[in-house]
Amino acid sequence: MERPDNLVIVIFGATGDLTSRKLLPALYSLSNQKLMPEKFALLGVGRSELTSAEFRKRIEESIMDHSEEIEYDFSHIPEFTSQAEYFNIDYASVSDYKRLRSLIESLCKKNCLKGNLIFYLATPPSIYEVISTNLSQSGLEIPTNGFRRFIFEKPFGYDLESSRKLNNTLHGLIKEDQIFRIDHYLGKETVQNLLVTRFANGIFEPLWNRNYIHRIEITSAESIGVEERGGYYDSSGALRDMVQNHLLQITGLTAMEPPSSLGAEAIRNEVLKVFQSLELIKEEDVEKSVIRGQYTASTIRGENVQGYRYEKGVDVNSKTETFVAMKFFINNWRWSGVPFYIRTGKRMPTRVTEVVIHFKQSPQNLFQREPGTLAGNQLIIRIQPDEGILLKFDMKEPGAGFNVKNVNMDFHYTDLADVKIPSAYERLLYDVMMGDSTLFSRDVEVETAWKFIDPIHKAWKNNPQIKIYGYPAGTWGPELSNNLIEGEGLTWRYPCKNLADEELYCEL
Ligand code: NDP
Ligand code: BG6
Repeated sequence: MERPDNLVIVIFGATGDLTSRKLLPALYSLSNQKLMPEKFALLGVGRSELTSAEFRKRIEESIMDHSEEIEYDFSHIPEFTSQAEYFNIDYASVSDYKRLRSLIESLCKKNCLKGNLIFYLATPPSIYEVISTNLSQSGLEIPTNGFRRFIFEKPFGYDLESSRKLNNTLHGLIKEDQIFRIDHYLGKETVQNLLVTRFANGIFEPLWNRNYIHRIEITSAESIGVEERGGYYDSSGALRDMVQNHLLQITGLTAMEPPSSLGAEAIRNEVLKVFQSLELIKEEDVEKSVIRGQYTASTIRGENVQGYRYEKGVDVNSKTETFVAMKFFINNWRWSGVPFYIRTGKRMPTRVTEVVIHFKQSPQNLFQREPGTLAGNQLIIRIQPDEGILLKFDMKEPGAGFNVKNVNMDFHYTDLADVKIPSAYERLLYDVMMGDSTLFSRDVEVETAWKFIDPIHKAWKNNPQIKIYGYPAGTWGPELSNNLIEGEGLTWRYPCKNLADEELYCEL
């Protein structure tokens, strides 16, 4: 792979959780693989008063604590951190942006960099506008000598109106092709593999429609709570934090038509068409189609865990959802009548993200089934952990008669020797440095996703009688979420740590 051109990366929100857990380890990993530019400078920006030496120490700690690989070469950390500086900012102060500009210019001069700049906005989204406007007023957005690229973390806006406003502001300052709206799920190798599974294998495509598929289920569960992010999360909730972006993007890739090419526009156009075909959930239907929950105190494997309302930064009367499950439809030729079920939550039994395609049953039920098992094949695409694919199908049990048993055929990425699955942020940061926007969202895509989400928020706001259910931390969310799934005896799949296992209680 090619090395990007020399550049400066400026990270706003450099003292935050995202920077420490994901961005810095990803940049270091790229540097270890010689996929960072030969020369670069890393400038952390934040309100916290830190010296550059303290910031370098934090970088070292975050690489040590959060690098995903087990056997890892930490020997280049001093060289890596030596390229880092920290700038203490008051986001509203125009003079601070002038000082920032001078610092960037001197970094470019000192390191013989040509002026390529990437600005990564890893702050709460409420300050994206103020940062962009001030960068513009200080002249930093103008590509005088090299490129200027801007990365915006999700959620992009708070609702349709605010995302439109943000888009309009940005379009007044910079060009759309300078904007990289990041959704790190699109950077996950296994999410991209959805495209390969569907469009490289001739056997799936003929079955991938309403004629053969009974329902599609997407789960993204986390075992962690809100940790240190209570302040941000309490004003966001699971619907904004996970559904509007990550889960809808996975839905888009699962449901899209084949793209005409692998070009950025071709793929994004098809995902957009899926979003445009989402049947909006009417305000009066929200109560029955969307279940929200909030985790309560519990004991998980012997450890006491506090309820959401007692987490740091969270209002004790908070009605913010930490769990959401919903049923919806995609109104187009391919998917008409096929229910899509999505579910996400914090403090669930395990960390798992997967797509389950439930195929329709065979039309004639000739055989005796193992008690407790349901007919119908399932294809499970495991995004994380134990990444892989599992096909569940029926086989004859050896012996007399025709008793049928449900068996697994599975592939695990770990079976591929010597394959390192790059972290999502590694892939996406590299793509921005190379100027490839394929895995980033366009303005209209983000706005269309908000159009789907807004009526749900409105219904919750306007109808306080719509319940938010408590669920004990460490469980699969409110029991009622099973009622969403239509059909006798049908429930969500209860995935385990290992792709091929399922059930409520298993290795987690
Ligand atoms: P944090 O709450 O950790 O905030 C990041 C930093 O922003 C803080 O360290 C703080 O730094 C600064 N900050 C916080 N509040 C304000 C404020 N009101 N005004 C100005 N600056 C503020 O957030 P995360 O790092 O978790 O998330 C940042 C963004 O990344 C969010 O949009 C989130 O959705 C997204 N994201 C986060 C992920 C994660 O795993 N954490 C994963 C994917 C996306 P200081 O006070 O020093 O300026
Ligand atoms: C982020 C959310 O976008 O995704 C977090 O803001 C969540 O709340 C995280 O924890 C999950 O990402 P991953 O890659 O760990 O599944």
